[in-house]
Amino acid sequence: MKEFSKIIFNLEDIYSRAKKDILEAKTQEDLKRILKKYLGKEGEVRSFTKMIKKFPPQERKETGRKINIIKNEIEKILSKKEKIVKKSKRFEGKKIDVTAPGKKIERGHLHPLTLVKKEVEEIFQSMGFSVVEGPEIETEWYNFDALNIPKEHPARDMWDTLWLKEDKLLLRTHATPVDVRYMEKHNPPLRIITVGRIFRHEATDFSHEINFYQLEGLMVDENISVANFKAVIQEFLKRFFKDKKIQMRLRPSFFPFTKPSFEIDILYERNKEKKWIETLGAGMVHPNVFLAAGLNPKQWQGFAFGLGLDRLAMIKYKVPDIRLFYSGDLRFLYQF
Ligand code: FA5
Repeated sequence: MKEFSKIIFNLEDIYSRAKKDILEAKTQEDLKRILKKYLGKEGEVRSFTKMIKKFPPQERKETGRKINIIKNEIEKILSKKEKIVKKSKRFEGKKIDVTAPGKKIERGHLHPLTLVKKEVEEIFQSMGFSVVEGPEIETEWYNFDALNIPKEHPARDMWDTLWLKEDKLLLRTHATPVDVRYMEKHNPPLRIITVGRIFRHEATDFSHEINFYQLEGLMVDENISVANFKAVIQEFLKRFFKDKKIQMRLRPSFFPFTKPSFEIDILYERNKEKKWIETLGAGMVHPNVFLAAGLNPKQWQGFAFGLGLDRLAMIKYKVPDIRLFYSGDLRFLYQF
């Protein structure tokens, strides 16, 4: 037993010497030497392992365990020190110019569609419209039924819908449901806009995406007419395009939730060629929509419009393909 405590004492001595040596080591070579001295074949720790056989069986296990602990500890601090030595080697002989200017950190910036969103919100707010929000996952009721598009109505085919597995839920195919949600909870007069993501299961091309943004607007009051719609939209376009001469044409159209309905196309320069691009749908709110939202159509009139935000951005910045907005291509994004 006396022998045993002497061994333990010696092991602890080895450990503290090894620790001191490692602390003082400066180079890889120093560390290699230390490894050999303590853990090498002829090293100090190894020599104890050889001695174990001579011990009485009851002491062998405990001594072996202690040797292992010491060995592992030395290995651990050696490898830590090795990392430090390697790191400091990288700077060896290198001078650091503390007066040199720092590296410029690249700053992120807002996506062009976010910039356009902010801009249109500001313009409409200055015209007395409030900015509201609605859910991207919609019910069949708000997306279709409340908008005068009952089941089996052929107008449902106007939008290729992405249905969710949950009963009667879908990804909204336009932002008009937000109008109904708002009218249910607020009394006229109303002036609102909402900007948000829209989803359609359709083939993509330069002006169509499956996921895009719409700016929806609604104004409800007594004695509202098409003239109010024209005035508001013209003022908006004038401010958005900063008085640049933009050419547009108003066409009669059909939407089940407005009567009469229109569409506006804007002349757009694409790859140096001028083309009409359909930019918004609009019309006077259909009496059935007022009824679905709990408002009296005899008292209230209103106009609503749904405008492709991506298309506005394409016209303003002469972007030739809508898919560029969603490509994540930094060469494109850094231009804004
Ligand atoms: C609608 O979505 C109607 N809710 C608009 C509306 C609102 C009419 C209120 C009347 C009253 P439409 O499907 O035409 O209509 O889409 C409106 C605009 O969204 C289009 O003019 C176009 O600018 C844009 N848009 C439509 N589909 C896509 C698409 N796949 N990719 C990009 N923009 C699109």
